[in-house]
Amino acid sequence: MEIKKQADLIRPAWEERITELLGKMTLDEKIGQLHQVGPSPVGGFAVSLEEHRQMLADGRITQEEFDAFCSGTARDTQEQDVREGHIGSFLGVSGAEACDHLQHIAVEESRLGIPLLFGLDVIHGQHTIFPIPLAESCAWDEALWEKSAAIAAAEAAADGIAWTFAPMVDIARDARWGRIAEGAGEDSYLGARCAAARVRGFQGEDPSAPDRVLSCAKHFIAYGAACGGRDYNNADLSEQTLREVYLPPFSAALAAGAATVMPSFNDVNGVPSSVNTFLLRQILREELGFSGFTVSDANAIAECVIHGAAADRRDAAKQALAAGMDMDMYSGCYRDELKALIEAGQITTAQLDEAVRRVLRIKFAKGLFDHPYTRHRLTAAELAAHRAAARDAACASAVLLKNDGVLPLLLKTPVLLVGKLADCAGEMLGTWNIYGRAEETVSIKAALEEEGVLAGYLPCCGPDMPLDRDELTQAIRSETNTVIAVVGELADHSGEASSLCDIDLPGEQNEMLTALRQAGKTVITVLCNGRPMAIPNAVERSNALLELWHAGSEAGHAAADLLFGRAMPAGRLTATFPYRSGECPLYYDHPNTGRPLSPGRFSSKYLDAPLEPLFPFGSGLTYTTFAYDDLQCTADRQGIHAAVTVKNTGERAAKETVQLYIRDLVASRVRPVLQLAGFRQILLAPGQTERVCLTVEPERLAFYDTRMRRVIEPGDFLIQAGQSSADGLQQTVTVSADLAADYLRQI
Ligand code: BGC
Repeated sequence: MEIKKQADLIRPAWEERITELLGKMTLDEKIGQLHQVGPSPVGGFAVSLEEHRQMLADGRITQEEFDAFCSGTARDTQEQDVREGHIGSFLGVSGAEACDHLQHIAVEESRLGIPLLFGLDVIHGQHTIFPIPLAESCAWDEALWEKSAAIAAAEAAADGIAWTFAPMVDIARDARWGRIAEGAGEDSYLGARCAAARVRGFQGEDPSAPDRVLSCAKHFIAYGAACGGRDYNNADLSEQTLREVYLPPFSAALAAGAATVMPSFNDVNGVPSSVNTFLLRQILREELGFSGFTVSDANAIAECVIHGAAADRRDAAKQALAAGMDMDMYSGCYRDELKALIEAGQITTAQLDEAVRRVLRIKFAKGLFDHPYTRHRLTAAELAAHRAAARDAACASAVLLKNDGVLPLLLKTPVLLVGKLADCAGEMLGTWNIYGRAEETVSIKAALEEEGVLAGYLPCCGPDMPLDRDELTQAIRSETNTVIAVVGELADHSGEASSLCDIDLPGEQNEMLTALRQAGKTVITVLCNGRPMAIPNAVERSNALLELWHAGSEAGHAAADLLFGRAMPAGRLTATFPYRSGECPLYYDHPNTGRPLSPGRFSSKYLDAPLEPLFPFGSGLTYTTFAYDDLQCTADRQGIHAAVTVKNTGERAAKETVQLYIRDLVASRVRPVLQLAGFRQILLAPGQTERVCLTVEPERLAFYDTRMRRVIEPGDFLIQAGQSSADGLQQTVTVSADLAADYLRQI
């Protein structure tokens, strides 16, 4: 299949120059292009000495790597390696000066002058930190996703970075998995739209522009299906599920031009992705037409030995290259083993050249051969605009989950603030923020002080702070009746290696909420966290509950904007909140059973949890109400067309996200009970009505049958239009055999 944006990465002029270069390169220089180094053995982030010792003990790093770490980062050696053409890319070096320094050596002092590629995890901002990606997905706003990625790109580019290891496009259906924070939630349709928008934001129309960076769709594939939500765990799933649920965001990212792809750490159906020929060659290259290069996850090639999938590092290098893994992130397996493998005839020069060609192609696409040095400079005005955008994004990402009428607060309402997180600016930055600074981040306490409404602040307790009963007593005795309680989890309790088996509020935060409520306080809870949480107690004890997430540099300002009604909450959940941790994985688009969820005894449910989730996919409130009416659906050869009338029945203008779902009622393979198939955001003044028309493209009606054929089966489809996956008007339409036949002819 040819995807236009991927085909654009192959330009005859570049390919000629690459052929010429390949003709001149020594074996060592070729291998160098595939070798990425970082300032620490596991990449660009801080790792403690204890962790290094552990990694040495369990074989993730070698004795030499450990020694190199203990003796500093051996800058001189790396400079010499750059000079000799033995390094193709750096991970985690940032700052225009540092990058340009190394680049000068590569371009001016190495034999062939091939530029380096500087990569970094710019996940939700470089200096201006945006809400974590899961939060931002709740905005359901493609323009916003594109803009925040473009801002992150501009700030990273000004720091000498040419390539970000983002977007993370893994579908995550299990809230215990810490990395759910980094993606767009549980739905593959929304995930695909978000993935494409983020790639457009990072790369722009042309990634060689000075203020853009190359993107990397990761982690290919089904990393989010890690068994039990435990990070790095294996994923065992049908090929149908792999293709229907986990693949669409990657296809969308590639169609938007993603220049690189990072295979996942884990094994998928028994084969680690790093050496998985089926995934990296058949699906990624042959079927999706990917023309860029793949980069392993940190140390992942070497870890194939620990997996038990390779006999030793040489075997791992051989398998990875053969499978289509082009660049080795840090493990050193390629640097150390490829030469011997070539000399022994175990891999061919053609295989090596193919990988080198792809890496060089992307260096050309980034324009590095013409402009190797940092060109983008940020102005003060630009930085101020970035902060304003981060504030808007934080407002748009927050989800109002409960409100008994207490919100919005009147501007002069004095409030008592409790919860340690209220004063933890750094925690607001969330996972994967390398350069965000706590001192440049607005805490909720600081924002309420600015607002002039703070009657007092008592931390009382936090995720990592036990309940201080004296402070709680003071809070209860305070004359101020309205309490804002900031609760949640620490930034590093979600993200990589941060899986949890209990996703209720950690520590004694529930006890604090209970005591305040029992004392008769009006409790407005602000939740700062990186994943869906099982928090029925917190919901019950709160008069209002605002899911702010780890909202980034402007978290505090956004909270104040929303609590005081200057901004209207508009976020809608992109991942289901369970009542209890044991319900995970819990997601709305599950297949039906023969005994569907019902109060009856022999139905598919848990005895000790309510039937419905705590908060369903797509849900969220605002300070007005909407009514849906007159759903009309028709089907023709172009798809299903739905029209519904939406009215703002409240007193404030607000944004509504109209959501359209489908269900294939009878099919040869059991289909999900619902699937998101379209959405549209509209802004309605009080009393205003709008007729919203949405079309479900044939592609969304298709699935893989038991023989792995992509088909649409004619027959009845249920259509649901409304405010969330758990609410809406419904109608049934019939999809004709003509539509199904047209579809088959096209694919
Ligand atoms: C993560 C990747 C990340 C890489 C480089 C790994 O541990 O899984 O998502 O891009 O480190 O920092």
